[in-house]
Amino acid sequence: MADERSKTLVIVTGASRGLGKAIVVEMAKALSNSAAHKRTHFLLIGRVRHRWDGAERQEAQDGIAEDAQLTVAIHRCDLAGPLEDVGSAFDAILSSEWTGSGPFHQVYFIHNSANTGPLDIIRDISPAEIRTNLLFNIGSPFLLTGRLLRFVAPNDGAAPPRAKRLRIVNISSLGAKVAFPASGLYCMGKAARDMLMLQVAAEEKGTTEYDIKTLSYAPGPMRTAMTEPMFEGRCASESVIQSFRDMEKNNTLVDPYETSRKMVRLLLDDKYESGAHIDVFDIEDEPSNEAFALQAEVMAVREENRRLRTVNPKVEVDRRAVLPSADSPPDGRRGVVHSRSLASPTAASLAGLLVRGVSQEAAAALPHPHGQPQAPQHQQPQPQPQ
Ligand SMILES: NC(=O)c1ccc[n+]([C@@H]2O[C@H](COP(=O)([O-])OP(=O)(O)OC[C@H]3O[C@@H](n4cnc5c(N)ncnc54)[C@H](OP(=O)(O)O)[C@@H]3O)[C@@H](O)[C@H]2O)c1
Repeated sequence: MADERSKTLVIVTGASRGLGKAIVVEMAKALSNSAAHKRTHFLLIGRVRHRWDGAERQEAQDGIAEDAQLTVAIHRCDLAGPLEDVGSAFDAILSSEWTGSGPFHQVYFIHNSANTGPLDIIRDISPAEIRTNLLFNIGSPFLLTGRLLRFVAPNDGAAPPRAKRLRIVNISSLGAKVAFPASGLYCMGKAARDMLMLQVAAEEKGTTEYDIKTLSYAPGPMRTAMTEPMFEGRCASESVIQSFRDMEKNNTLVDPYETSRKMVRLLLDDKYESGAHIDVFDIEDEPSNEAFALQAEVMAVREENRRLRTVNPKVEVDRRAVLPSADSPPDGRRGVVHSRSLASPTAASLAGLLVRGVSQEAAAALPHPHGQPQAPQHQQPQPQPQ
């Protein structure tokens, strides 16, 4: 009999291209390599069915553990359609999948589908555009969330929960926090979706029946079909067009696969607070081997300082072991070492590393010189439309 402890269901809306596709690929890789998720079923929902054939499937298969059992089902559903139709289509999708392969130990639901709506200023937007956009970007995630909750944990008490753990992710945007010209419906929709996640977190707080958490993840600015109008100048705001072109020129756009990897790591670490809004720029890059080595050196220097203080309290230990140098980046993590005053082999080798120039990752692994919590490794850019 199937062991439900290792069965996972992942539902992603809008996985045919862009970020959604990258999320599926990265989740498949990460989950297949984690003992708790060896058997995972992906349920992809979008308007287009055929795009996960061929190259996409192959792409998802590279890097997947050989002993993993992954299955994919693709369902057509226009999430911008009338809510009644969307609701019954979603119920049917859930029932058909679940009866065949549930119950599951964990379910991940990723609300990824969205569009920018009209890129016009508020005064120029029509009633029909408002209705269509709000239904798609707010109405459908709201409805799907409710149906999912009801399905996973039927509140009539007649049946046990169909999953032990549920994680709901809203793909958010900086636009949920910052207003960008000619993106009124988009930004409002993202703020509303963030609130939906907070609302679920509040309503389900204290639930003991099963373990549930929600998250709003802002992936950063990417070049995808969604942002193509900005690059092509089809937006009523010149400043928005310019900032996308500048990001491309300066190579500061985010890669959909990289941001998806960070999101998956966040999900699997499972340390975020339910309902939180987390931006890709809030997340540290994974420390490299060099960074680990450097961190070990730093710890050794600290230990040496502590020892010297214990042996002779009068010895003045140089506290400038790691100080910001003149050309420090603004977050101040690149450092210089006064090996003379530290007089220890570890300090010398730390100095060597720093003189050679530490990599960005290694610099990120250094404790902040002012004792503040570590800043994210990426410099937080000026707010850019996303
Ligand atoms: N690109 C950025 O810079 C950026 C920045 C911040 C946040 N985001 C967010 O990231 C998410 C993905 O965006 P993206 O850039 O990857 O956009 P994208 O390339 O346009 O992809 C959007 C996805 O949504 C699906 N979709 C569109 N209309 C749909 C409908 N009516 N019913 C069902 N599915 C529909 C599309 O699938 P089908 O067409 O096959 O149905 C597609 O897979 C969105 O939530 C977006 O707001 C993007």
